[in-house]
Amino acid sequence: MENALLEAHGLHKRFGALEAVRNVSLSLRPGEVLAFLGKNGAGKTTTVKILSSLLLPDRGEVRLLGKDPFKDPWALRHLGAVLEGNRNVYWRLTPLENLVYFGVARGLCLASARKRALALLEEYGLLEKAQVEVRHLSRGMQQKLALLQALIHDPEVLLLDEPTLGLDVETALLVQEKVRALARAGKALLLTTHQLEVAEALADRVAIIHRGEVVLVEDKERLLARFAGNHYVLELESSPPPAVLARLRALGVEGEGPFLFRGDGEALWQVLEALRPLPLRRVARAEADLLEVFLKVVGHA
Ligand SMILES: Nc1ncnc2c1ncn2[C@@H]1O[C@H](COP(=O)(O)OP(=O)(O)OP(=O)(O)O)[C@@H](O)[C@H]1O
Ligand SMILES: [Mg+2]
Repeated sequence: MENALLEAHGLHKRFGALEAVRNVSLSLRPGEVLAFLGKNGAGKTTTVKILSSLLLPDRGEVRLLGKDPFKDPWALRHLGAVLEGNRNVYWRLTPLENLVYFGVARGLCLASARKRALALLEEYGLLEKAQVEVRHLSRGMQQKLALLQALIHDPEVLLLDEPTLGLDVETALLVQEKVRALARAGKALLLTTHQLEVAEALADRVAIIHRGEVVLVEDKERLLARFAGNHYVLELESSPPPAVLARLRALGVEGEGPFLFRGDGEALWQVLEALRPLPLRRVARAEADLLEVFLKVVGHA
């Protein structure tokens, strides 16, 4: 894809008899957030590990700013990743030591690594733990540090596998704000989360993986519009009399103020006809949300 910062083509990964990742292709462009969604065990983390060069695929290729990171590991200085679990940082080092270590390992000089580390620790409220060994931090603090580790070298590409897991409300909001700011600054972000309202708030594009296969990749707005389809909300000025209500129910209208109706425009006319002459407050096409899309695409499969 044109000017993608990260591209993957035809990734396959097998664990024994299990095909955990099947023919996965993805791209990340500058300035976009891709929400990478799927049920437990769908293959998200496995894909993210391949994209961040922690796991060699059986087939397929990855290009990071045009380079193959498996052959040219120095390309990885352009990438930051938060991975599931606690493998992101060294437990016997302090947060400051970790951040300086990762900063220098990914190309910063010692002085700027230290400066940036302190600024990030301050921004995320971890300064008072800067000198405490990571194994003595709370789980949420460790998760925050995992994110700072991914940000320390200011990479162009960020892969965030459930970055807000276990974070308190305030910190989770800070991370969301940060994700937005990074995208605005032209970074490419992949975000894995089970919090679909977070994905909906942040994503520009959505990819859904199911049993190892990417079953959908689409611009978020277009996706939501497509799924909103024929789905209307009706509000009346007052409750309808029982006879009208019975007719509405017969036409498949659900709920009561607001009423919900699924059907095409012609069917909607029958509903409006049944309502006459009761005054309407509002008739609108309902909006789909990502949860609805997700359930329709993979929920019952
Ligand atoms: N190292 C491994 N050895 C064997 N099987 C594995 C290994 N890693 C992952 N799997 C299997 O691959 C499948 C995909 O796992 P993965 O961790 O990628 O799922 P996920 O989409 O990240 O799920 P979750 O939402 O639960 O984090 C699962 O069935 C898992 O058990
Ligand atoms: Mg996972």
